[in-house]
Amino acid sequence: MRADSTRSSTAWKPTNVPAQNWLAPPPAIGLGCSVLDDLIVPVVHSRLTASPLKLAGSCRPEHVVGDDGREWVRKKHVDGLGVQISGEVVGALLATKLGIPIPEYATSERPRAWLSRWAPGSSPWSEAHNTDLVNEPDLGRILALDAVLLNTDRSARNILVTIDPEESSWRVSAIDFGMAGVSFPARFNIDRDRVLQRGPLPRSVPAHRVHEEAIECAHAAADLTSWTIKQVCAQACALSGNTMEATMAEVLEHRCRNAVRFVEGYFRHLAEPES
Ligand SMILES: Nc1ncnc2c1ncn2[C@@H]1O[C@H](COP(=O)(O)OP(=O)(O)O)[C@@H](O)[C@H]1O
Ligand SMILES: [Mg+2]
Repeated sequence: MRADSTRSSTAWKPTNVPAQNWLAPPPAIGLGCSVLDDLIVPVVHSRLTASPLKLAGSCRPEHVVGDDGREWVRKKHVDGLGVQISGEVVGALLATKLGIPIPEYATSERPRAWLSRWAPGSSPWSEAHNTDLVNEPDLGRILALDAVLLNTDRSARNILVTIDPEESSWRVSAIDFGMAGVSFPARFNIDRDRVLQRGPLPRSVPAHRVHEEAIECAHAAADLTSWTIKQVCAQACALSGNTMEATMAEVLEHRCRNAVRFVEGYFRHLAEPES
């Protein structure tokens, strides 16, 4: 499937239909597409050239431009970073399934890399966005997915905020699931009942206002089929070279089935006062 193919989705309540074309296309319901479509990471075949733009990040992210003019953030698959791509794949596919906003994504084959569609005019989370987001409920869904995947890396830099030119308003989306526990299946198994702590999540993120949406999203995660979870892990391991597909799938299924408990626990931590 090409990156620009239409995706279908059985996504639950996609209230967050993105307004900008760099975001993953909204679910196309009723177009007769296969359910498989949204469980496949598209491959970009055009030649990608690195631009001089410098990006900060631990995975040596690069801003690249394709022959077709599309811009991406590229993280190359290199030893050590390869496994982290499995977290990106699981995060992206489950986000799509659950109606959680993330930039459009793809992979490239030579070099093997994870691609996130460049969001022009974006900035990291800052306190100012506590009150001015058009899609604040999506923050709850992002936090819910983090709780399930044990993503300890939801820092301000990994919450992308983009101006929506049509609405002159701000829209949030999630990037960077690379360090999520699901990327490291052996550890994920040991931590299978662990509740996520606040970690680097900024205190200005209004978790108390998005609790309900987070719980709804947790219920949707609990309802994902075993088949979906296995497909997601198969993709993740095929693209990343991660060899622990069975463990990943078994633990991920456990985390999804118990998502409500993990999300409730995470939100209890988020409600704790600063010590
Ligand atoms: N789709 C995107 N659009 C715009 N900027 C992005 C996008 N993806 C990543 N970035 C920028 O690149 C930085 C590094 O990307 P990230 O995926 O977080 O890599 P790392 O794993 O190295 O932290 C982000 O903090 C953000 O500033
Ligand atoms: Mg990052």
